[in-house]
Amino acid sequence: MAFLADALARVKPSPTIAVTTLAAELKAAGRDIIGLGAGEPDFDTPDNIKEAAIAAIRAGKTKYTAPDGIPELKKAICAKFARENGLDYKPSQISVGTGGKQVLYNALIATLNPGDEVLIPAPYWVSYPDMVLLGGGVPVVIPTSIDSAFKITAGQLEAAITPKTKWLIFNSPSNPSGAGYSRSELKALTDVLMRHPHVWVMTDDMYEHIAYEGFEFVTPVQVEPGLYERTLTVNGVSKAYAMTGWRIGYAGGPEHLIKAMAKVQSQSTSNPCTISQWAAVEALNGPQDYIATSCRAFQRRRDLVVSMLNQAAGVECPTPEGAFYVYPSIRKLIGKTTPSGVVIENDEVFCTQLLETEGVAAVFGAAFGTSPNFRVSYATSDEVLEQACQRIQRFCASLK
Ligand SMILES: Cc1ncc(COP(=O)(O)O)c(C=O)c1O
Repeated sequence: MAFLADALARVKPSPTIAVTTLAAELKAAGRDIIGLGAGEPDFDTPDNIKEAAIAAIRAGKTKYTAPDGIPELKKAICAKFARENGLDYKPSQISVGTGGKQVLYNALIATLNPGDEVLIPAPYWVSYPDMVLLGGGVPVVIPTSIDSAFKITAGQLEAAITPKTKWLIFNSPSNPSGAGYSRSELKALTDVLMRHPHVWVMTDDMYEHIAYEGFEFVTPVQVEPGLYERTLTVNGVSKAYAMTGWRIGYAGGPEHLIKAMAKVQSQSTSNPCTISQWAAVEALNGPQDYIATSCRAFQRRRDLVVSMLNQAAGVECPTPEGAFYVYPSIRKLIGKTTPSGVVIENDEVFCTQLLETEGVAAVFGAAFGTSPNFRVSYATSDEVLEQACQRIQRFCASLK
């Protein structure tokens, strides 16, 4: 009898670990390393949110709560969905978890049966396929490339749907590409979904608030209210309010799905941290000026990074609509050789060599399902970004 679960054998160790481990080793050895791998805002959590957490501790709000969230937070989430997305959810349709990650995981565990297919546009957030595999489902990847601006088309979606399709996981703006679907691009997809009533939509709106000038964020049910009964709208406070460590994510959806997710959570982790829930109430109900301030800073950095990377020989860097990542293509550099004689066979070799020669840690595209690319997180200071991009330019110029 095997000791480890078969489900675990289906899951790959994180492909980002190799670069991260090498970066840590080089740093420990005294090398000057610039990390561009972080998936979190470099800003501090706003003070009003911290104060709300401190007040909660002082008021003794330090005990268990209902497994999927306190009523005050569910009310604040309903108000947020109404105010910002025009979506009408009741508190009984809201689930709060330990980060958006747990919410997505709960939904998959609560619904997948062996063989159920889940459509995942690539490049994708690294956790989607493995979560599906852990739940016994089959990830079905829909490819995109720089030529389609990293967005799937209605035709691709239509062709990927089978009688076994249970979910489409939709993420806009995207981690890792930063690509955001316009209202009309999304409408083309929701029109397809309306023709396939057995397909549910899990929309990961985590980067809703990191959306730049000229781009209007929209979520599927806003564009097609006919999908309301089969959509889980997932969001969280991590990226919007620089609260990654507080671990609060949430979702709105049909009551029977929300109840099933609560069942999973009640038998695994129970309630998300009580103090963090009170902090999230303040994040959603309190002043919202942090969002615009951070967004302005991210847009300035995006423009800097896009401009500098496009000046690196052989790098093609599209301008993303949102999130804090760029996902340039290095297709013109494949087959070239470093001064030390290493052939750039793929994006993993590119990132390893970039790290070893210039001390810049970025994540290779294969980790996200689309190659040859690499992901740069620009959630760091302008000075660091400028220096990192100069090093990338120097590295690319050295390839022959
Ligand atoms: C696309 C996407 N979804 C979900 C998450 C999970 O965020 P959290 O669990 O912090 O809410 C992340 C975090 O990196 C993400 O990039």
